This record gives sequence, structure tokens and C-alpha cells, in this order.
Amino acid sequence: MTMIISASILSADFSHLEQELHTCEKAGVDWLHIDVMDGHFVPNLTMGPFIVKTCRQITQLPLDCHLMVKNPENLINAFILAGANTITIHPEGNPNVLQTLQWIKSTGCNAGLALKPETPASVASPLLPYIDLIMVMTVNPGFSGQLFMPEMIVKIAEVKALVDQHTNVKYIQVDGGINQDTITQVIKAGANCIVAATAIFKNPSGIVDGVRSLRKSAN
Ligand code: DX5
Ligand code: ZN
Repeated sequence: MTMIISASILSADFSHLEQELHTCEKAGVDWLHIDVMDGHFVPNLTMGPFIVKTCRQITQLPLDCHLMVKNPENLINAFILAGANTITIHPEGNPNVLQTLQWIKSTGCNAGLALKPETPASVASPLLPYIDLIMVMTVNPGFSGQLFMPEMIVKIAEVKALVDQHTNVKYIQVDGGINQDTITQVIKAGANCIVAATAIFKNPSGIVDGVRSLRKSAN
């Protein structure tokens, strides 16, 4: 499988969103990553289903929604209706994780489980039969532009070892601080799907060059 690049629109220029998303398509981005933050689970407030619907009107690229929210079960329907293709939720502090994952999967969406840096890989073990994607966060959730945490490399390898026993998990995603140097380290550890905001949307030479550099390092 070729490496999936999911471009996080958290760093996009929202005054030119349509243009930026079309540039992502031309650049060969595989998915668009939408960082949903509720001001409670993380100390930041960002986008909701309305933005997902807007993206769906602009592009046919798969929409990869990362829900950094408390009680994600209250929002699943709205994200499905808005056009989400993957919905990833966090287990930390959320009581209904398994039911929510099963619900996401039953709609035909990819169900994803995201682990904050302090959450061990073992938390994912009992949930692996129910998910399509597992995300290892390599920054504290909340903001783009943070530094990659190299200590997470070991966790990515642990997740890869767990996933190798569960063939239904298709994607090992890594989110946070990915650039042309860190991408090679996470691939080596077992990732096949990366998220990048700064390295794509804030690349000084533009989005196309940003994606090209990541793809080149990934190969
Ligand atoms: C952080 C978000 C990430 C973020 C990545 O909470 O989940 O998706 O947008 O940003 P960069 O690539 O700049 O680290
Ligand atoms: Zn994210």
C-alpha cells in the first residue's frame, strides 16, 4: 500500500479554502484531515460538521475527521450527514468508545481510534477488532505547528505489532509534527498514513512542493 497523506486543513488559509483544497487535489493529497476541537477535550475550539459539508461541496477527496471532543457519540450523525469518510475518536475520558466505534462502522464510515501521547498502545488492544484506523498522536492534541515527540516512535512500533494480529485494521496513522524528516522515522516504525498541516499548508514554497517533499521522503 502506498503511503496515505492526509492534509490537515487546520493550517489552511480559510479565506481561500476552495482554492487551497483544489491545490491539494492537484498535489496528490489522498485525504483531507479535519481537526474538530470542542474547547473542553482540548484547549482550542475549531470546526464542526458545517466545515465538513463545505469541504464535501468543494472536493471528492475522502474526509478524515479527527474528533478531539468530549462525548463524540453526540456528533457522529451530524458528521456522517455532512459527508465524513473516516471518523476518529479518542478513548480518554469517553465512556462509550466501543458503542461509538461500532456505530461509526455500521454507517460504512471508517472507524478510527486516536491515542494521546500519554495513552499506552495497550488501551487499543480490546478495540482493535472494531476499528479500521488507529492513530498515534505525536504531539499533544490542540494545535498545529508543534514539535514531533520522538518518544512516540516506540509506541508506533507497538501499535504495528498489535495491528499485525488484526488484519481488519487498515491504517496506522500518525498525527503531529510530521515533516520530511520525521515522516521517514514513522514509516520505518510502521505507519502507513500520515497527517500534516504545517508541512503542507505553511510550506514556504507552497502546497504542491510541501506534498512533493513528503511523498519523496516517504518513498
Ligand atoms: C493537533 C491536530 C493535528 C494538527 C497537525 O491536535 O490533531 O492534526 O493539525 O498539525 P502539524 O502537522 O502542524 O503538526
Ligand atoms: Zn488531527
